[in-house]
Amino acid sequence: MKRRDFVSFLGKASLGMIVAPAFLSSCGNSTTPILSKVLSIEELKRLKAFPLENLLPSDKDDLLLTKGLDYHTVIKWNEKISDSDTFGFNNDFTCFIPLDKNNPKDGLLWVNHEYINRLYVSDFNYRDFENPKEHLTRAQVDKEMYNVGGSIVRIKEENGVWKVVQNDPNNRRITAKTPIQFNWDTPIKGKTEAIGTLANCSGGITPWNTFLTCEENYDSFYGETYYDEDNNSKKIPSHYYNWEDFYDHPTEHYGWVVEVNPKDGSAQKHIALGRFAHECCTLYELEDKRVVAYTGDDKNNEHLYKFVGSKPGSLKEGTLYVADTVNGAWLALDWGNQPKLQQRFKNQTEVLIRAREAAKILGATPLNRPEDIEIDPISGNIFISLTNNKPKHDFHGSILKIEETAGKFNALTFKVSTYKAGGKENGFSCPDNLAFDMAGNLWMTSDMSGNAMNREDKPYMPYKNNSLFVIPRYGKDKGKVIRVASAPKDAELTGPWFSPDGNTLFLSVQHPGEQTVDVNNPTSTWPFDGDNIPKPAVVAITGDLIEKMNHLNKIEVLHD
Ligand code: FEO
Ligand code: CA
Ligand code: CA
Repeated sequence: MKRRDFVSFLGKASLGMIVAPAFLSSCGNSTTPILSKVLSIEELKRLKAFPLENLLPSDKDDLLLTKGLDYHTVIKWNEKISDSDTFGFNNDFTCFIPLDKNNPKDGLLWVNHEYINRLYVSDFNYRDFENPKEHLTRAQVDKEMYNVGGSIVRIKEENGVWKVVQNDPNNRRITAKTPIQFNWDTPIKGKTEAIGTLANCSGGITPWNTFLTCEENYDSFYGETYYDEDNNSKKIPSHYYNWEDFYDHPTEHYGWVVEVNPKDGSAQKHIALGRFAHECCTLYELEDKRVVAYTGDDKNNEHLYKFVGSKPGSLKEGTLYVADTVNGAWLALDWGNQPKLQQRFKNQTEVLIRAREAAKILGATPLNRPEDIEIDPISGNIFISLTNNKPKHDFHGSILKIEETAGKFNALTFKVSTYKAGGKENGFSCPDNLAFDMAGNLWMTSDMSGNAMNREDKPYMPYKNNSLFVIPRYGKDKGKVIRVASAPKDAELTGPWFSPDGNTLFLSVQHPGEQTVDVNNPTSTWPFDGDNIPKPAVVAITGDLIEKMNHLNKIEVLHD
């Protein structure tokens, strides 16, 4: 394992300012963290005495936090980010890049906007109509298109409070109408660019400091193309948003990993990473600067993928593999070398557009909704949330662990095991987003669906509202799953991301009040603005407990 690489590029635990875990220092790693806060022994002792309390499950309509955590709202749906733009709906993935690597308190925040609630975004009461398509207007669809995609906002922390810098020239929106180039040599459905990005769920960051945003349930917007055994295609319309009734953008233009340059907002879609319901994209940089990218397809019985670049810094030249977790093998989705793929597809572009079919032809293992993926900064193992698979009676999901052979990220074989199973014993259900902090503790959010939570007739009753958990790596709570936050009604907590100094956890509160039928009687009113409108928002979580967890490795070796 290349420990030095971990310290210089560490997934979600922020860039360039990594506090090297004690384990790394004791192994002779000489990388000096740029911004580590040096705490005195007294301060470490005070934090050691600070309790880590398990929050009880709650169905309260509020963002509840365990002792030692506080939150404030950074930005909410529909707030202005400039004279011309507003913040989009249903915020998911967040990612912070400091403008100056020596100042962890001033930088650009990227936020995904995954989908919309029509009741609020386009004033379209779809629940009123038997056939909503007949009543939907282009003006309503245009509003919806504006409210998905992503936002870039400059934020600064002053006196412990993060605020948006209004009208900063970096503030901008990427929407379902923004033209985006394909990073590919042949056109996709006759075009070299797509109109817009949508279904932006989770994402990632590149070693060259750009954002990755992943197009997940794209079929809800423009439908999907299916192929029968004789390879004849059939377009199945969207059963949800029906945007194809107003705009004929090919659905093949969505379902990709999209890279956004924070400096100018320019974007590209990476065809080489395949097309499916990408939850996230987690990168690792090899010593020779080639990139490895892990990405999962969040759908029942779909797959886990890995791209290995063949040129430094490229997400275009390389090979896409899919996981056979039964035999611990990465299978190459490579048309040129796979006769089985040549029988079905015309060329590599077709293989990538129809990656799900190609994966099944090669014998990829069906998984229970692979969602977020993180690389453990200490062991180098890869952790993957498998949210659930209700038809297979896996209601609570699990976290899968992959150990690449000899710790090499470009290995073609691996070992697989279950790290933690959801359910009664561990007190959580439906794991989704993951994040490691600077001491290597694992943070996790849950995603039980809104129509299944808090219902006597569903298996989710004991877990109540969706939550945020931490699994400590050291000390008496080592390996336990501890609930530290509980979401408002119908909401899901998403997009956990630590600030570069580890003192703030950015977190999205997505779809509060989603089960609302009547806007006059919403199921949630969070964030309690007094207007009876539930609003997705990004919050900053701070406090002694965040500090304690980020220094847990040092606290653990303290002698009283
Ligand atoms: Fe958008 Fe798989 O969560
Ligand atoms: Ca998710
Ligand atoms: Ca989810």
